[in-house]
Amino acid sequence: MPDTTEIIREIRQTADFLLARAGRRPQAAMITGTGLGDIARVMDVEFEIPYREIPNFPTSTAEGHGGNLLIGNVSGKAMMVMEGRFHLYEGYSPAEVTYPVRVMAEMGAKNLFISSAAGGLNPLFEPGDLVLITDHINLTGKNPLVGPNLDAFGPRFPDMSHVYDPQLSTIARKAATGSGIALNRGVYVGITGPSLETPAETRFLRMIGADAVGMSTVLEVIVGVHCGLKILGIVVITNVNLPDCMKETSIEEVIATAQGASKNLGRLWKEIIIDMPG
Ligand code: HPA
Repeated sequence: MPDTTEIIREIRQTADFLLARAGRRPQAAMITGTGLGDIARVMDVEFEIPYREIPNFPTSTAEGHGGNLLIGNVSGKAMMVMEGRFHLYEGYSPAEVTYPVRVMAEMGAKNLFISSAAGGLNPLFEPGDLVLITDHINLTGKNPLVGPNLDAFGPRFPDMSHVYDPQLSTIARKAATGSGIALNRGVYVGITGPSLETPAETRFLRMIGADAVGMSTVLEVIVGVHCGLKILGIVVITNVNLPDCMKETSIEEVIATAQGASKNLGRLWKEIIIDMPG
């Protein structure tokens, strides 16, 4: 059994280290996905801290991920941004994947913004589309809240009926309209990876109600809900998977398409952050 006192001590140590650097609490935190680092272009970055310099932080290995924590302002609001995340498929445990989310909450962030690359399952989606996550299905087979509950952070059985914050979703849709950026809506299904889906798996994921599939997001979101963060998630569709005419997908294609959409996504985040509460 993990020792909850020790886990909480570590989280506080990491949060204290970052707060001492930043000198103030972030209003919001962000986790950026593969090739989606353009938020950095619209951010006044004050500090850029490699993960390896942050006490108790896991270190990132995935392709297309920077592995830096940025602290600064976006649209005049105090933000912390993770450039690169930790994935189950890299061998990280659910606790490691979600460790930064608890640090963000401990530092005082109220909103958690998440972006990720995803395969489109909805046949109306096209590569490069942005999709606001309306709900998710956790098909990773893991739950980061398994084990003794961290009562200081949240309840044993967190409610999951309104995971993606309705107010933030409304702000996102208005920001998209105002900026002339098309924003679709859809259900995200999280899988472990790293293998992509077979045609039969793709058909199954569509049948159970998913519009997009990816290898991240859901565990971070579960921990975010547990510690009371308001969550907004936007995915970039990097490839579309149709079970009856599957095309091959490569990581190069995923990264290139994500990078192509990243500029618009950065613009959209900026507008969302202007209007965010808290
Ligand atoms: N499947 C799973 N994860 C992904 C995909 C996909 O097709 N594209 C980008 N991330």
